[in-house]
Amino acid sequence: MAEPFGIGLLGCGTVGSGVAKLLLEQPGRLAARAGRPLVLRRVVVRDPRKPRDVALPPGVLTTDLGEVLGDPAIQCVAELVGGTTWARQAVLQALAAGKHVVTANKALLAEHGAEVFATARRHGRAVAFEASVGGGIPIIAALSQGLAANQITSLQGILNGTCNFILTGMTENGSAYADVLAEAQRRGYAEADPTLDVNGTDTAQKLAILAHIAFGVDVLPSAIECRGIADMQQADLRFAQELGYTVKLLAEAWLRDGQLALHVSPVLVRRLTPLAQVRGAYNAIHVVGDAVGDTLYYGRGAGQMPTASAVVADLIDMAIGRAQRSFQTSRLWAGQEAGITLLPAHSVRSRFYLRLLVVDQPGVMAEVTRVLAQHHISIASVVQHESLDEHEGDTVPLVIMTHTTLTGHFRAAVAGVDRLPCVMAPSVYYPVAD
Ligand code: NAP
Ligand code: HSE
Repeated sequence: MAEPFGIGLLGCGTVGSGVAKLLLEQPGRLAARAGRPLVLRRVVVRDPRKPRDVALPPGVLTTDLGEVLGDPAIQCVAELVGGTTWARQAVLQALAAGKHVVTANKALLAEHGAEVFATARRHGRAVAFEASVGGGIPIIAALSQGLAANQITSLQGILNGTCNFILTGMTENGSAYADVLAEAQRRGYAEADPTLDVNGTDTAQKLAILAHIAFGVDVLPSAIECRGIADMQQADLRFAQELGYTVKLLAEAWLRDGQLALHVSPVLVRRLTPLAQVRGAYNAIHVVGDAVGDTLYYGRGAGQMPTASAVVADLIDMAIGRAQRSFQTSRLWAGQEAGITLLPAHSVRSRFYLRLLVVDQPGVMAEVTRVLAQHHISIASVVQHESLDEHEGDTVPLVIMTHTTLTGHFRAAVAGVDRLPCVMAPSVYYPVAD
């Protein structure tokens, strides 16, 4: 068998310990797939006294990155630390020291991909990042290899396991948001700072990475309009169900006439569609290509072993030399491809769900619909439950589903509706997928 492929692991938390387990417990399987043994030579952590989820061989654990960088038998570094400070420096140093890099760090790639990839090219090294999007789903390989003959025309994904776990728990069990989030953290799905999950940042980072691969656009997460689920209310989940929909946090991209629309938002998805059936920490991505048509990718989007599965797949590709060949020919993060511009959010066409809290008195419906009509918003349906309380002046929720309209028109209408004296709280609205 060929010479061993030496690996240095940075981080031994949820994902790192899963990778170490696979490397240590399945040496025969991995060597057969890679054509050479994969050898875990060093594991760098912050606190060497912390109990680990894996039994590491003596002498492997260290707090000194230099032991990885200076080891000529380590050809590849797997960065499983997260964040954009220590991890960024470590990755840049590893590339400069002649190591290939495998990473699960979407924040690093989405924010600093250009620097990381340019450094890799300068030093003749490769970067692989299958685990950075979709956990165990091989979506990067699907887009960059399996669908390489296509122009991708749209992409819709549930890309954050924590948010999908929370929405599933709130919808199906009526669980409290904070309780399900705590359970997602306990299971190792959430980021070290879970705000990044629930405010949509993690999903926007993943969408930015997919947009590079699928559309060749150079977009930072901050340029993607993004709403998370942190303020999601049970009332909206219940109204969505009543109307035949399920609420999902979606990353969406559509390419039309050279213009690319990108956004992250909770979206009402028809209950019988495949994306609506994705429960718990699972992810799914619906990709449409001009030659292949509709394709769908589904699997566990977060957690220790699904993510480790993707990291180790990249390590095998590196050991074979396949990842290096792909990296050389790909132009990822090498500048915007000509011909595609970003469509501003206000120009995106969509249907909308709108919930108002209004005073229960004569004329309210007429006032609301008048404002909507002024902004060219056509109503598809209205829900107002019969009030058993006969006290005039009480408040009631009023839910309106619109026909397709421009987002800019819709938002102007909502601002107008919210100024009406009969509307008692800021309105809640979400796009509706069809
Ligand atoms: P984690 O459990 O918090 O583990 C982070 C590891 O990095 C820990 O072992 C920690 O050491 C080490 N570390 C942190 N700062 C360090 C420093 N300054 N020097 C050396 N080591 C340091 O994180 P995780 O959930 O495994 O996530 C790791 C990466 O994978 C992140 O980029 C995340 O976004 C990505 N990811 C995670 C999942 C998931 O389901 N969790 C899925 C896909 C991608 P100590 O243990 O000593 O503190
Ligand atoms: N925190 C992320 C999630 C991990 O919940 O999806 C996987 O990237």
